[in-house]
Amino acid sequence: MHELTTWLSGTADPRTFPYPAVLHEFHRVGKHFVEKELLALLDETRARVAGATAAGGDEARLLSDFLDVTLDKWDGRYDYRSYLALRLLRLPCGADDPPPAEDDATSRRGRDQLFVRLVADALAFELAAAAHTTDLLPQQRPGPPVVTKRCRLGVRAALPPLARLGLVGAVGDGGPTTTAAAALHAVAADLDADGDQTLRLSMLPVHVTHDEYLFIRVLQAYECLFAGVADELRAAVAALAGAAPRAAADRLGYAGDLLGAAGPLFSLLATMQAESFRTFRQYTEGASAIQSRSYKLVESLCRTPEGDRLDSVAYRSVPEVRSLVRAGQPTIDEAYRSAVRAGRLDGADRTLVARRMETFAGALLQWRRTHHRIATRMLGPRSGTGYTEGTPYLAAVRDVPVFTAGTADSRPVDPIGGHTA
Ligand code: HEM
Repeated sequence: MHELTTWLSGTADPRTFPYPAVLHEFHRVGKHFVEKELLALLDETRARVAGATAAGGDEARLLSDFLDVTLDKWDGRYDYRSYLALRLLRLPCGADDPPPAEDDATSRRGRDQLFVRLVADALAFELAAAAHTTDLLPQQRPGPPVVTKRCRLGVRAALPPLARLGLVGAVGDGGPTTTAAAALHAVAADLDADGDQTLRLSMLPVHVTHDEYLFIRVLQAYECLFAGVADELRAAVAALAGAAPRAAADRLGYAGDLLGAAGPLFSLLATMQAESFRTFRQYTEGASAIQSRSYKLVESLCRTPEGDRLDSVAYRSVPEVRSLVRAGQPTIDEAYRSAVRAGRLDGADRTLVARRMETFAGALLQWRRTHHRIATRMLGPRSGTGYTEGTPYLAAVRDVPVFTAGTADSRPVDPIGGHTA
């Protein structure tokens, strides 16, 4: 690793850190197998830049975040957030989260752009591998029909955010899917000012199996989505508690659309070869989406989880969200009831908000069912990497009511207690 030793023997300026050389080493063997000597040098790098981070601006922060994800296994703190490099992607991960965007439109646009870039990058890798122009993650390459299918599903997953960004026309949906995927990649490249450096740095597979690339990008895209949904739900709670509770309907509608339109992302993941998944997951022990902060925020913003769930591995895996709930984090369920009780939400407005809640609940329940199905297919009877028994856990939590507890059937729930007509 002479690039790194040379860098360390100089001024160790974060702006000239040899990212390509370090990435190359990680990609050559997979994060789980990186040589100790390199990790020791990165550890030394971390000590060198530690003091500079506060004063060093964006470049120092980028390097510090990169070291955070490269040294997770070395430090013995490898988990879901470091596996997905959420901090590098400026997605919520529980500590030092980026401040929210100044306004809702900017925040929504930023998330749409990131989502599109992640999906486009996944497809670009498929195309490059199929064209033999990359030797990254060379094991168990999929055949041409799978690549075509991935391109079709990936483009479909990207269409809703592209439409919101006013960019559907640039991708087109009538031509061959591989052409559309290439066009999507070109569009995505234009969305990013830093030449997609953060995206490149956020791809650190644990092994060298082709499909891990897809797995990581799909998880990151869902994280981006959940973060957006959590923002909307938080705003819905605030609206319900305020003077114009009807505004909550828009937020809930937007959140439901985000989740409802993301189905093709699961279809895309379903093309993963189960054998590949079982190969690389041997090295992902300890990293599970049960640690997803954004997902648990979504769940707990809808309704306060019951005590046994709050005390289970589900919330013990996200201590900061558990603390928020225990501190009385307001929920949509409760804010809706209060608004109705106080007479601030009635008539057509109340019906509209209740309907949006039902639609959102339907989208989340659907997400859970699809997730359970895909996990069953990929995992079989094996236990989860988040220390649950695996799919039996998912089956048990799949139908946990999104809003009001204690429904005995699947009829739409009126969030303040009974059933809607
Ligand atoms: C091959 C595909 C997948 C398999 C086999 C799988 C498997 C599992 C398993 C077994 C669990 C239980 C916790 C554990 O022990 O790890 C879990 C939890 C979870 N997974 Fe997945 N998963 C897959 C894909 C995804 C994707 C793409 C997402 C999107 C972010 C996701 C999000 C979640 C979430 C949020 C939980 C926590 C659910 C809860 O605590 O209620 N999973 N998954």
